[in-house]
Parts: sequence; structure tokens; C-alpha cells
Amino acid sequence: MLQQQHSRRILGIETSCDETAAAVVEDGATVLSSVVASQLATHGPYGGVVPELASREHLRAIVPVVRLALERSATSYDRLSAVAVTAGPGLVGSLLVGLTFAKAVCCARGLPLIGVNHLEGHIHGVVAEADAQGRPIEFPALALVVSGGHTHLFEVREGFAYRLLGKTRDDAAGEAYDKVAKLLGFGYPGGPVIDRLAPHGNPRAVAFTLTRMKGNPLDFSFSGLKTAVLRWVRHQDLGAEIEERRRLLRQNPRPTLEEWLAFTPRRTLDLLASFQRTVIEELLRRAAASAEQIGARSIIISGGVASNVGLRRAAQEAGLPCPAHFPTPALATDNAAMIAAAAFPKLARGEFADFSLAAQAGLTLA
Ligand code: KG4
Ligand code: ZN
Repeated sequence: MLQQQHSRRILGIETSCDETAAAVVEDGATVLSSVVASQLATHGPYGGVVPELASREHLRAIVPVVRLALERSATSYDRLSAVAVTAGPGLVGSLLVGLTFAKAVCCARGLPLIGVNHLEGHIHGVVAEADAQGRPIEFPALALVVSGGHTHLFEVREGFAYRLLGKTRDDAAGEAYDKVAKLLGFGYPGGPVIDRLAPHGNPRAVAFTLTRMKGNPLDFSFSGLKTAVLRWVRHQDLGAEIEERRRLLRQNPRPTLEEWLAFTPRRTLDLLASFQRTVIEELLRRAAASAEQIGARSIIISGGVASNVGLRRAAQEAGLPCPAHFPTPALATDNAAMIAAAAFPKLARGEFADFSLAAQAGLTLA
């Protein structure tokens, strides 16, 4: 009982897309457990997330995933201070599963409910890790949230006030990875496989042009790059090798790097390396410019694409105006520890939701 007064545990629940996740986080920074049930095997054959299948998988997974998160952290419902849940942005049918479960727990146990924005979650994953390591993020910070659904730049001020500085006008960076991978027969998701193959090609082999945005220069666009890749693929007549890779994937849904390399000729490795270099340049150019603009003291790069090894290396070498912080790989892609962490300042402020909290596909952060 004494301990309960000192430390506060939040159960986080995240079901916005294709991962069913639950986690218990203590005092906003100590991750006691983090369980993620991936639906990759379900969506992989379709080359992308199928919303109806995602909702059904969340329904199957939510009870065992939450139970496991509580078990692994040796936490009973009585020991919780609140339940935090992603309210959006995301797939409405998927969000509803997490929201309904969270509300039911709060109703049954008399716990406060905290609604969390998924993007704020990605930012807090990094903030919490920095806190846990005793090297807190300095504010104002520039946050680049870069995932399958988002490529957004935010100014983050002390106390977690956000201002949107720029965002993609079409595809998100992760979506560009996924579409290019699908086009070339590398399956879904595209980011991890392109990331592993890119170091085997020449990043200067194909000269893709960088985009210049009319209006807000901090906005992004990746549809032109995707079309340029498509044109290059048609011009080089890659049909036969693409078909071979699709056959490989049908036989083995998780090929090793060596297997991919055996089915990927030099010119395609060069294409992947050049594509990845261009995406990284687009991201870091705008991150640097916006950090400069707001006088940032740190840069936070988070979301699924923040797992990219090439991006992490380039960020260290880019001469950015202030230190760049990335999440550890497990906290980069969707998880619930980041949701519980983001809820902690809201718990401290008593910022609770009631049971009318709705799933919001396009919930904005600023
Ligand atoms: O944050 P996340 O798990 O889900 C969304 O909120 O979208 O991000 C998933 C996205 C996918 O598009 C995936 O291809 C991309 O992140 N991704 C990567 C890497 N790992 C995952 N993109 C580039 N390089 C990676 N290593
Ligand atoms: Zn995400």
C-alpha cells in the first residue's frame, strides 16, 4: 500500500492499426512489461493492412495480450492508477476494440480512463526512454513522427504543447517503403526488407530528384518518388525477377537476407539503395530546417521508419543542429508502452476521459 502511494502504474492499450499491444509503465518512464501481438502473418499476403481483418484479429488478441502484460509486470488491476488507450488517429474498427476494452476495465474497476493520441505516443516513447536513462529531452524539441500512416514535424514545448510545422501531402514515408516493396515483390511491410538490402547497393546509382514544396517548404511528398520508382521498374523491365521474388515469398513468408540477395540482382539493389537515400535526405533536410527554425535543443525521431538503420546512421552524420534521439527498435514500431508513457503527464494533471471517448480516424495533435 505504501509503495502504491509512491509509484503509479498505467496500463496502456494500443490497437490503432495492425498490432494489438498492452503494456504496464511505472511513473511514465519504467516499462515493466510491453506485449505486442503482430498481425503481419494475416496481412502479409495482401500486401497491406486489411481493416476488417485487423479488427477481427484485435478482438481475438486483446484479452490474452492485456492479461500477459499484467502478468509479466506482476500487476493486478488493483495496483493500477489508470488505463490509457489510443483514441486515434487510426482505423476506426481497430481503435474501437482497444477503446471498448479499456472502458470496460475502467467501468468494472473504477479506474480513470485516459485517451491518448497515437502520434503523441510515438513522441513519448522517446521521451520516456531518455528519462529512464537519466538524460531527459531538452525543450523545445523538434519531433519527426515517421510511420506507415504519418510523416509529421511538430514543435514540442515544455509541458507537452505541440505545434504542427509540416506533414506529408500524400503518402507517408513508411507507405512509400511499403508500396515500393510491394511493387518489386518484396512483400509487406516494406521498410525492414529494403533497409536490410539497401547497404548492398549503390545509393548514388539512380538519381531521384528531391521534392521542392510550393507553400510550406516543411511539407513532404513521396508520391513523386514512388512514381519515379515505378517508371524505372517498367523501363528496366524487371517483371521476371519480381515474379521470382513473389514465388519465393509464397514458399517462405520470411526469407533470410541471403535468400533475398540471391533473388535480387545488382541493379535492383542499386534502386533500393537510391530510394532509401532519397527518403532519408527528404526526412533529414526538413528535420534540420525545422529544428533550426524553432531553435530546437533536441530532435526526436520516432514511428516505424525510425527503426531504419540507414536513417539512424545518416542522422548521426548529418551535422544536425542539435542531438537526435531515436527510440530503441522495440519502441519504434507500434507498442503500448509509449501510450502508457504519454498518459503519465495527463494522469498528473487529472486529464481524464469519460466513456463518451470516441475512436477518431483523423485525430490531430496540433
Ligand atoms: O509506427 P508503425 O509501426 O505503424 C504506423 O503507425 O504506421 O510503422 C509501420 C511502418 C511501415 O510502413 C513499415 O514499412 C515501416 O514503418 N518500417 C520501416 C522500418 N521498419 C518499419 N521503414 C523503414 N525502415 C525500417 N527499418
Ligand atoms: Zn505508429
